[in-house]
Amino acid sequence: MVRGSNSLRVVGVLGSPRTRSNTEILLDRVLDKLGDEGFSCVKVRLREYVVKPCYSCRKCLESGCCCIDDDMTGKIIPLLLEAHVIVVASPVNFDNVSTLTKIFMDRTWCIRGRLKNKVLGSIVVGRGYGLDSALTCIHNWGLKHRMIIGDRGVMGIAFDYGEILSDTRAFTDAEKHASRLAELALLVWSRSFA
Ligand SMILES: Cc1cc2nc3c(=O)[nH]c(=O)nc-3n(C[C@H](O)[C@H](O)[C@H](O)COP(=O)(O)O)c2cc1C
Repeated sequence: MVRGSNSLRVVGVLGSPRTRSNTEILLDRVLDKLGDEGFSCVKVRLREYVVKPCYSCRKCLESGCCCIDDDMTGKIIPLLLEAHVIVVASPVNFDNVSTLTKIFMDRTWCIRGRLKNKVLGSIVVGRGYGLDSALTCIHNWGLKHRMIIGDRGVMGIAFDYGEILSDTRAFTDAEKHASRLAELALLVWSRSFA
């Protein structure tokens, strides 16, 4: 899915395993807003890709690339490397990010150093427990990559599908988050295109 037509690119990474996902609704709000501000947005639903866990084989330490031949290597990493903004959106599972999100994060070890200065957006959705620690997990991932953390991120409260629509504060925060990501991305990256 591609929206907008700006030279700055956004990748939204969705870590929900569900086809009807609260987290996706909130991610869409952020991507829509960034699209309105002229960014080209792509959404990656991790559940639709084959992404194997990191084997910790350490071959990437020498080669600089991952030896696992799957969609992370072939499709998702190229999108990340071309992006100026990466938004990671995950349901909260046991006070942490979802399994899909964690596998995604681990598989970026092979591109450490190459996400530097990209702007990081963060969204978590849960029924109300451990949202902070899930958000911290995303932020720590970005800090390790020396990315620029957009702000505190967005927390949404929901359990069954659609409940997120009642969390009006989360939608307000999502719009503010998108504005801040846009501001930072233009500050850091727009000169590259002058
Ligand atoms: C395995 C599992 C663990 C969960 N753990 C938590 C949790 O620790 N804290 C919480 O607030 N919600 C937890 N939830 C609820 C989900 O975060 C919640 O249903 C969320 O809306 C799912 O997002 P999604 O619709 O985008 O998949 C858990 C759900 C599952 C399936």
